Amino acid sequence: MELVVVGLPGSGKTAIGRRVAARHGAAFVDLDEEIERASGERIPEIFEHEGEAGFRTRERAAIEALGAPDESAKLTRVIAPGGGAIVDPRNRWRLFRGRRVVWLDVRPEVVAQRLRRSPTVRPLVAGRDPMGAVRDLAAARARFYGAGVRVAGVAEMQSVVDAVDTVVRAPASAGTVLLRAETRLGRLVVGDALLAPEVDAALRELGARRAIVVSEPGAWGAVGSKLASELEGLGWGAERVLLPQGEDAKRFSIVEAAASELARLRVERTEPLLAVGGGALGDTAGFLAATYLRGVPYIQVPTTLVAQLDSSIGGKTGVDLPEGKNLLGAFHQPAAIVADVSVLASLDVRQRRAALAEAVKMAALGDERLFQTLELAGPTIALGDTSATESGALAEVVERAAWAKVEVVLADEKEAGARMALNLGHSLGHAIEAAAGFGGLLHGEAIGYGLRAAARLGTARSVTPPERAARIEAVLDRLELGVAPLELGIETVLQHLATDKKHAAGSLRWVLPTADGYQIDKEVPMTLVRDIATGVLAGREAPVGAAR
Ligand SMILES: NC(=O)c1ccc[n+]([C@@H]2O[C@H](COP(=O)([O-])OP(=O)(O)OC[C@H]3O[C@@H](n4cnc5c(N)ncnc54)[C@H](O)[C@@H]3O)[C@@H](O)[C@H]2O)c1
Repeated sequence: MELVVVGLPGSGKTAIGRRVAARHGAAFVDLDEEIERASGERIPEIFEHEGEAGFRTRERAAIEALGAPDESAKLTRVIAPGGGAIVDPRNRWRLFRGRRVVWLDVRPEVVAQRLRRSPTVRPLVAGRDPMGAVRDLAAARARFYGAGVRVAGVAEMQSVVDAVDTVVRAPASAGTVLLRAETRLGRLVVGDALLAPEVDAALRELGARRAIVVSEPGAWGAVGSKLASELEGLGWGAERVLLPQGEDAKRFSIVEAAASELARLRVERTEPLLAVGGGALGDTAGFLAATYLRGVPYIQVPTTLVAQLDSSIGGKTGVDLPEGKNLLGAFHQPAAIVADVSVLASLDVRQRRAALAEAVKMAALGDERLFQTLELAGPTIALGDTSATESGALAEVVERAAWAKVEVVLADEKEAGARMALNLGHSLGHAIEAAAGFGGLLHGEAIGYGLRAAARLGTARSVTPPERAARIEAVLDRLELGVAPLELGIETVLQHLATDKKHAAGSLRWVLPTADGYQIDKEVPMTLVRDIATGVLAGREAPVGAAR
């Protein structure tokens, strides 16, 4: 067994880690020391000569050099990475899987005091007001440290060592938590093979009496039935409420029937529902939770890529009406969202590919690392290639896109302003989806065309630098999104655009990409929209911008 000790700089990772290792006769590895040994320089010198980027490259190499974890029962190695090493999702993927992780939680005030007294120079804190710097680091990294088992780090050294030792001696759990964030939108957990323990913990915290699983046949077969039996193994009684598969779940009559079933099961006001499925299931089960007994808690267990990186986050729940999609709904935040990337293995290629359109959107809104990951690994993720899972690329895309959405929604929970950004690619995308008849194109497939249109409109309006537009189109090309010509009449598409609900006082608000973010443009002339939409519908064979 191996243990990773994480925490802020100055939280005592080395001091505690060494003592725990000594107690078990295990090796102790201080990753920063390894980096210094390999480079022949002290860390502040590496920062000075190679910048933070150079240091991070060395850090990645040192983590890779650790090799595979020893998964035997005896503790053989304790690893203390530098405070920032675990910010990179790939580092966490390599370090945390197959190892136990402990978070030495020390308050920023205490850390700042310790750092003031410490002879070691910490580059990210040096030269700044230590209190402010440490507080910023603590806030920015809480979700990464939170992946570990929390041990209070301010106490007698011996009792902290004892507390860490309790974690070492606890029964093993097969899964890996990569990120755990406590937010106003609920707890977000992302990881690998972690469903049962995380759902168990969330149910306990909610004071649940049983696990009431709301699912649909596809997600139930792929994920739900196994999860329910694992929960039963942990002592939960499980109830099952099955809705129809796919968009057919998103009907008011289905919500009514499901609510009757909850009433028959005598589900009470404080009892949480467990929504296990993709976006359609999550939207409906969320609406059921929002309205049954005027609102019961719920936990989202997103089982599709769309749901993990987008729909399970943000609290928008609802169903469709014959007049249009998502017309009946409510904002209702889940208590927890538990995203396990291992459940995505059974998804088909079309679903994956389409879901990545939303990740491209989040990247285009300004996440450079997400952009790079999609450029490099997007096609293998779309194909469901095991290399994309094994390298941690899939988990990184889920984590980055999901977190980007959390940040946008936190800034604007009820869609009054900033959340508008999430409509990038959606104005024309929705119109194309509607014109194709729902079910004709997957949502993400339509968004692929919408993103191309936004990039081209942005360039024509001098909002999107041409190289940014080209980069967005190139990644869509690699993902084969918005490539095939569509046999849709431009008039039909424009009609649907005219009835789009995102009208502001009669004019459409276009979200257009900038060099590293977005801008809203309410003045886009319809003649330009028509030209560019025509070009987009003609498919990728048409040269970019030819329709302008
Ligand atoms: N609430 C929001 O903010 C939001 C955002 C984006 C999309 N959405 C909604 O999400 C829906 C689309 O999401 P979706 O594509 O996930 O819908 P979905 O729930 O219909 O799932 C798609 C298909 O995948 C199957 N499936 C689910 N999990 C699986 C697994 N692990 N392995 C194999 N198959 C599995 C399902 O049975 C279904 O057939 C739309 O209704 C859309 O409106 C909502």
